[in-house]
Amino acid sequence: MADPLLQLDGLSKAFGAHQVLDGIAASIAPGEIVGLLGPNGSGKSTLLNAISGFLAPDGGAVTIAGRDITGLPAHEVTRAGLARTFQLPSMPTRMTTREVLAAGDVSAGSARNMLRGAAQDQRIDQLLEMFRLSHVAKLPASALSGGQKKLLSVALALRGAPKLLCLDEPTAGVHPELRSEMITILRRAARDGTTLLVIEHDMLFIRQLCSRCIVLDRGQLIADCAPEELEKNAAVVEAYLGKSVEKGKTAR
Ligand SMILES: Nc1ncnc2c1ncn2[C@@H]1O[C@H](COP(=O)(O)OP(=O)(O)O)[C@@H](O)[C@H]1O
Ligand SMILES: [Mg+2]
Repeated sequence: MADPLLQLDGLSKAFGAHQVLDGIAASIAPGEIVGLLGPNGSGKSTLLNAISGFLAPDGGAVTIAGRDITGLPAHEVTRAGLARTFQLPSMPTRMTTREVLAAGDVSAGSARNMLRGAAQDQRIDQLLEMFRLSHVAKLPASALSGGQKKLLSVALALRGAPKLLCLDEPTAGVHPELRSEMITILRRAARDGTTLLVIEHDMLFIRQLCSRCIVLDRGQLIADCAPEELEKNAAVVEAYLGKSVEKGKTAR
């Protein structure tokens, strides 16, 4: 097997007495598209925060393409080739959708990565078109709908052709028609060399996009399997039934 693009070793994080990540070990190969699943509160967003430098883990290690990035601040993790989106993207009030895409890393509060020139204009037009945002290009980014903000944040994350792209619930609020387009876009990104880790609740999206899923429950990794095997996995069924019982559906 190729050297992993992302390697997690014993990653741990507690908030007070609450052990939110409890020794997570996982490995993702270059070009893989992996789903990160688990009931609400199981630690998925915290894991992304610990990988992407938004949160310093208490223990364990994160390696990207052979480089130990454990505890590095987010902007350095970005430089190591990681891009991410947030469960609730926030957009600047004074910039249009187009300006946000041109400016790049808005979370850093600067226009350091500003794209300039005709070739760049073309690239931005292409991204706006790809994510069906051309008609809102001149609107303030903060005025977009929740779904459009999700699309813009994925476009923004893909802009720099990252080595690793981590998405936190990318389709929440996104129109169903655009979900299948997002699958096409993300598959193309993977073919072009981006490895993907995707938190998502929409199982159809997961089955269509991911070749493998890792599942968290109460901060522990309880499964690592193909999407088709999830419903046969006793630990996964138990984790989901324990948290949110779906009436009329018995899995055992
Ligand atoms: N900054 C924080 N301070 C205290 N508790 C937190 C913080 N962030 C997350 N948590 C807690 O950690 C647990 C996991 O949260 P999270 O990673 O957001 O779960 P998920 O994304 O799987 O729904 C939850 O119980 C949440 O309340
Ligand atoms: Mg979350």
